[in-house]
Amino acid sequence: MRKHTLLALALCSAAVAFAQVPAPKKPGIEEKGYVWNAQEGEKVEALHLKGDPKNGKETYEVCGACHLPSGAGRADGTFPQLAGQHSTVLIKQLADIRSGLRDNPTMYPFAKEAMVKPQELADTAAYINSLCIPPDHGRYEGPDAAAQIAKGHDLYENECKNCHGVNGQGDKEKFYPVIAGQHYKYLLRQMTAIRDGKRRNANPDMVKVIKKYTDDQLVAISAFQASMTMPGAMCKAKPGKK
Ligand code: HEC
Ligand code: HEC
Repeated sequence: MRKHTLLALALCSAAVAFAQVPAPKKPGIEEKGYVWNAQEGEKVEALHLKGDPKNGKETYEVCGACHLPSGAGRADGTFPQLAGQHSTVLIKQLADIRSGLRDNPTMYPFAKEAMVKPQELADTAAYINSLCIPPDHGRYEGPDAAAQIAKGHDLYENECKNCHGVNGQGDKEKFYPVIAGQHYKYLLRQMTAIRDGKRRNANPDMVKVIKKYTDDQLVAISAFQASMTMPGAMCKAKPGKK
């Protein structure tokens, strides 16, 4: 096992602080004249390269310590589900984390050190994209789940579907993430961070939509998203399991 994987495992289980060079911090959407998803830097290089999933599998070993080897992340939302995400989205998010446009102090050292060259970004993204989406992710579990999901469905239809798709499949060419199969608690955390301007790399058109949401609406929209499945991309049920 590689040195970084052991360190990642230690971080995940013991949550020890990782004394390292602190991540840079860019203002992003808070900055005047900020251009969302500017086509520059290592992101553009990685986007133009053909990713090799075989090499990406090796790089992903360290990532699997937190996101799990299947890419499923954790149902409690600490680590997002990654499997099946569009390679474009993965490359953008990773490049944003590396450049300080999106804060992720827990992961930053790994994002920085496990992948050095743009080719490694492209390979890792290709591997993650090739994984099927595990169907047993974290959902909203309150007694009012049916009502929350229905309320969230209405919001989604009107304000999100155009970008993230009827089944939460996103759009590879436009960098819109896959949402189907994502954990409820991670979704709620992201919705809140995007509304409150804390995810500084977020798409400004999405920010405009979500800015006006109350906390209750964020719960409903997250409950609905966690109920979505994406036909054809979900992992097959294991034989003998219903
Ligand atoms: C120590 C734990 C840890 C390790 C190791 C780790 N991550 Fe993460 N990762 C996280 C956390 C925590 C988040 C969510 C941060 C947040 O809430 O915004 C995350 C988020 C992400 C996201 C954004 C997901 C999204 O839906 O926008 C991507 C992509 C990602 N990780 C890829 C990787 C890759 C590739 C590696 C290996 C190079 C890796 N991670 C290693 C903890 C980790
Ligand atoms: C104009 C298109 C657009 C609209 C409208 C939009 N989004 Fe997004 N959404 C995006 C993009 C692009 C991202 C990736 C953020 C970034 O730029 O890095 C994103 C990110 C997200 C994420 C984070 C995914 C992750 O893996 O971390 C969630 C969840 C999400 N959107 C849900 C919604 C919901 C719910 C709505 C409606 C209330 C919505 N979006 C409206 C384009 C859009």
